[in-house]
Amino acid sequence: MVQNSPTVVVTRKLPDAIETRMMELFEVDLNLDDHPFSREELVDAVGRADVLVPTVTDRLDANVLNQSGEKLRLIASFSTGVDNVDLRAAEQRGITVTNTPGVLTEDTADMAMALILAVPRRLAEGERAVRHGDWKGWSPTWMLGHRIWGKRLGIVGMGRIGQAVARRARGFGLSIHYHNRNRLHEDIENELEATYWESLDQMLARMDIVSVNCPHTPATFHLVSERRLKLMQPRAYIVNTSRGEVINEDALTRALRSGQIAGAGLDVFEHEPAVNPKLLELDNVVLLPHMASATIEGRMEMGELVIINIKTFVDGHAPPNRVIPGEFD
Ligand code: DGY
Repeated sequence: MVQNSPTVVVTRKLPDAIETRMMELFEVDLNLDDHPFSREELVDAVGRADVLVPTVTDRLDANVLNQSGEKLRLIASFSTGVDNVDLRAAEQRGITVTNTPGVLTEDTADMAMALILAVPRRLAEGERAVRHGDWKGWSPTWMLGHRIWGKRLGIVGMGRIGQAVARRARGFGLSIHYHNRNRLHEDIENELEATYWESLDQMLARMDIVSVNCPHTPATFHLVSERRLKLMQPRAYIVNTSRGEVINEDALTRALRSGQIAGAGLDVFEHEPAVNPKLLELDNVVLLPHMASATIEGRMEMGELVIINIKTFVDGHAPPNRVIPGEFD
């Protein structure tokens, strides 16, 4: 059991109001300059914290966790995804892990929708042309993209975010298709007029646009593999606001370069913050720096959830957002 005023180590700079509230409640060690923790700093943090507040940039693998002190009882992650934490190693050491689900859903879905619009309509290319002085005036045949209305959207992973993308996409005239571990309740399918594909291969082969919205787990690592990319139509686009690891980034780069698929919108990358340099050379991709959830409102709500999880845990109750190992597998 953690004492009433636990030592809480926060690995990145959080919104001021969140840090202030944490200071009022706990003994807090803040990261004021927001530098990403090195492995050594992480090992040091797990060695002295009662509660660790990491983010998606901290790799808490078994090796790091096995160097944690007896004190560490809670990892209250400032994130929805926890693929950077070895949940089984944490469990074995009796460490509870919590996350911040739900509060990023709408923001992330907005960004997925923005990419769904931006890539076929060549938004970033057009913007670059204006900035670089390459715009010579309106032309009937210049900057032609592809229409969104009436196309098929295939959503890979129909959880909260996938469904929020579907709701938006219907407003843009896209028909909704999805692949998910479990088929949705028919009420939700009816509301979204969504078609379920048990076979991901078959769905990918028939879609105009694919949106990746499943979590990264051992089962979804390179789910969109080289073989599956080859199944997609040359006119098809893919957007990813989930985790880079779900798509084989090298294979995707090759598919984009060879015209095997038409374009991609990526907010996440396999080796963040590194981006395959060949992707940077391509015009048919929109590349964003993992910013789908980056709203002031969302970050505040994430912080509130982190505080609630810590406070409930310290008070001896089950924290509301406990992550169960294997939950996402
Ligand atoms: C999360 O919290 O998992 C998001 O990817 C951060 O943007």
